[in-house]
Amino acid sequence: MTPYFNYQQDYLFVEDVSLKDIAERFGTPCYVYSRAALTDGYRQFAEAFRSREHLICYAVKANSSLAILNLFAKLGAGFDIVSGGELQRVLAAGGSANKVVFSGVGKSEAEMRAALEAGILCFNVESAPELDRLNAVAGSMGKVAPISLRVNPDVDAKTHPYISTGLKQNKFGVAYTEALAIYRKAAGMAHIKITGMDCHIGSQLTETSPFIAAAEKVLVLVDKLAVEGVVLEHLDLGGGLGIRYDDETPPSISEYAKALLTALHGRSEKLIVEPGRVLVGNAGVLLTRIEYLKHGEEKNFAIVDAAMNDLMRPALYDAYHAILPLQKKFVTSHSYEVVGPICETGDFIGRGREMPVEQGDVLAVMSAGAYGMSMSSNYNTRPRAAEVMVDHAQTHVIREREKVSQLFAAEKILS
Ligand code: LLP
Repeated sequence: MTPYFNYQQDYLFVEDVSLKDIAERFGTPCYVYSRAALTDGYRQFAEAFRSREHLICYAVKANSSLAILNLFAKLGAGFDIVSGGELQRVLAAGGSANKVVFSGVGKSEAEMRAALEAGILCFNVESAPELDRLNAVAGSMGKVAPISLRVNPDVDAKTHPYISTGLKQNKFGVAYTEALAIYRKAAGMAHIKITGMDCHIGSQLTETSPFIAAAEKVLVLVDKLAVEGVVLEHLDLGGGLGIRYDDETPPSISEYAKALLTALHGRSEKLIVEPGRVLVGNAGVLLTRIEYLKHGEEKNFAIVDAAMNDLMRPALYDAYHAILPLQKKFVTSHSYEVVGPICETGDFIGRGREMPVEQGDVLAVMSAGAYGMSMSSNYNTRPRAAEVMVDHAQTHVIREREKVSQLFAAEKILS
């Protein structure tokens, strides 16, 4: 638990507010974020990299709530986006286009145009054909596109295979062995300006060594380019720092920064990092009410009102999230499968959780701030959850609970 979520007497609090009060006021399922935890995470990052010129480009995909983007923008953040939609969100939230890097393997012409129009800092190009397209789109607009090539360093991030991105067999980036040739090609393009090099090897990393291995490989290429007269302004080492969900022991932000800074010692390029999870993951929880306790022949089920559409990580990656009752009670404890109402066996939030709970109790699914709401869906025509931001003793709704009517408002029945 972070210092921002803890029990006071028998009730679980976020900052100065009891989560039980939030559940009663705003209903469940409901995402709740701590403004102090978000602010603190960002400040720790900025502090850790203070000794060199840097830009923290928050990875919008981790949690794209406008209120959260706005908070980070006010703290000075840039943004790592992967779609035209995320660009619009960043701009709507008050982010600056000139602090935006645009990653992703499938950028469309329209997305490129919008990003050039806005004047983003850099396109993190992921293939040779993408470079051709970008050159053509920029040319048709009479503009020059600033680029970095995302190099795939072929380093094992030692994380879940679905969120490992820096291996040869992954779809991301250009092959390490082809990068120089593509840079040479880019150097000859009229509407491309080479400004950097980037890599991102995966997410939820719990060791520093893969980051360092990737940085070292990337630096070899940077030096080879310099020999050819292509001098880069920035190095973007991606995101990926893990958090504690259960018993993981990821490096702290300052240990991570120290490792990167050591690897970059004596170099003059500006450093860009793209943290997502580490800035938001432990700053948010998902509140969910127990609809029924069902004691089966083999297993006991706590059937809750949140489901895989609200928090997909357990179903998708078998990910672990701690689940805590909002009120400590002295009732008999049982081991429960915490499951949602969706008609899929994979619809679970937690397995085999020992909890002293009763029907109607509310639970907090912890560490749900990253890749929770942003990966939610409307499967089973379930409106998405409300989102609330707590700031000391104040509570703000930052997203209203969706209404079913909104879910099919764009649909048509044939005559
Ligand atoms: N930069 C790029 C280019 C990325 O693809 C990602 C995440 C990040 C930065 C941010 O990584 P972070 O600091 O959050 O690890 N849905 C998965 C995680 C997918 C991550 C995708 N890329 C999950 O719930 O664990």
